[in-house]
Parts: sequence; C-alpha cells; structure tokens
Amino acid sequence: MSETTVYNPLARALHWWLVLLIAAEFALAWLMPDIHRGTQPEALIAWHIGLGTTILALMALRIVWRLIGGAPAMLPAPRWQHRAAHAVHGLLYLGFIALPLLGWANASARGWSVHLAGLLQLPALAAQGAGWAREAGDVHQVVAYGLLGAIGLHVLAALQHQFMLRDNLIARMWPRRG
Ligand code: HEM
Ligand code: HEM
Repeated sequence: MSETTVYNPLARALHWWLVLLIAAEFALAWLMPDIHRGTQPEALIAWHIGLGTTILALMALRIVWRLIGGAPAMLPAPRWQHRAAHAVHGLLYLGFIALPLLGWANASARGWSVHLAGLLQLPALAAQGAGWAREAGDVHQVVAYGLLGAIGLHVLAALQHQFMLRDNLIARMWPRRG
C-alpha cells in the first residue's frame, strides 16, 4: 500500500475556504468605519463580527480534524525547514483562534451582541466596559497584522517549493476530487 502524499479532502477544503474567508475578513476590517465610543455594530461591522466568529468555528473544526485525520509525511528537507514549517503552521492555527477571541472580547466590552454568521447569538466574553477587554481591541489589531506577516512567510515558502525546488508541494493541499 502506498503512503498518502496529499492532505485528506476535508483538510484541503477547510484550508482553501479559510483562505477565502480570512481574505474577506481583512477586506471588511479595512472597509468598515473607524470604531469610536458609541459606534453601533451595524452594516460592515456586523459582517466583520459574523464572518470572524465563523472563521473561529471553522478553525476549531479544522484543528480537531487535523488531530483526528492527520497529515501526509513531510517532504524531505533539512531539519530546520521542518521545524520552521511546524512553527509557522502552529502559529497560524493558534493565531486564528486567539484573534477572533480578542475581537469578541472587545465587542463584548463595547456592549455589542456577538453572533455567529448573523444566525446564532453568542454569550459575552467580557463584562461591558471591562478594562482588559477594551485593551484587547488594540491587541486584536496588532495580532491581525502579525498574522498577515506569518501568512506572507507561509506563502513565500509554498512558492519557493513550487517554483524553485520544483517539488510540487502545492499539489499536497490543492483542491481536487477524492
Ligand atoms: C480572523 C478573524 C478576524 C480578522 C482577520 C480581523 C481583523 C481585524 C483588523 C485587521 C482590524 C483592524 C482594522 C483597522 O486597521 O482599522 C480589526 C478590528 C476590529 N475587529 Fe476584527 N478581525 C477578526 C475577527 C473579529 C471578531 C470575531 C470580532 C468580534 C466578534 C472582531 C471585532 C473587531 C473590532 C471590535 C475591531 C475594532 C477594534 C478597535 O479598534 O478597538 N474581529 N479586525
Ligand atoms: C489565510 C491564509 C492561509 C492560512 C491561515 C494557511 C494555513 C495553513 C496551515 C495551518 C497549514 C498546515 C496544515 C497542517 O499540516 O496541518 C497549511 C498548509 C499548507 N498551505 Fe496554507 N494557509 C494559508 C494560505 C496559503 C496559500 C495562499 C497557499 C499557496 C500559495 C498555501 C499553501 C499551503 C500548502 C501547500 C500547505 C501544505 C504544506 C505541506 O505540505 O507541508 N497556504 N496552511
């Protein structure tokens, strides 16, 4: 029996759905109005909340599925590269759990009600006005830009494999039937 060399179909689907949703979430963050005391969570801000919590739910599902479903053996590479890949992947998993939680805490501190995709009301993560959760708004922004940097490194590594090492790494994650 040959060893699997590609990620399983659900892992591949979740990877690319999350890429699209995270790109849309950054676009919403940049397009939505500046948030001040008294701003209401309407229009693009409501979309940012509903999509952000959806990303949180899909990311949690993805991590659970990764633990159950596993991953194909890594391509041969020097040990430091395996370590770097693991570190960046771990950062992306943890980061995209922490980031929406920070946004959620900040929204709760503002007294906003937080929902999952506009369908399900979620509980408040912090009391209205809680100091730590107000600070969480700034941390949310810094973490978001840090993760953008991590995504940049991740994409550069994928492109370097594909086009310089020519080991067809992207095929391991590329969506296809079966
Ligand atoms: C992966 C998911 C998310 C990403 C990538 C993201 C990204 C961002 C970014 C880049 C900003 C800063 C916008 C600017 O530069 O002006 C921002 C602000 C904000 N986001 Fe998110 N966000 C996510 C999830 C969430 C969630 C789930 C919530 C709430 C439930 C949320 C609530 C907020 C709030 C309240 C602000 C304004 C913070 C402040 O100015 O104090 N975000 N988000
Ligand atoms: C929002 C952006 C992205 C996030 C959050 C993300 C996240 C991740 C994570 C966490 C893994 C590790 C999978 C595992 O072993 O559990 C992974 C693998 C992978 N990603 Fe991404 N990714 C993003 C964008 C991209 C893009 C744009 C590309 C293509 C240029 C890409 C190509 C790949 C490939 C080829 C793998 C498999 C690597 C391997 O076989 O070791 N990713 N991604």
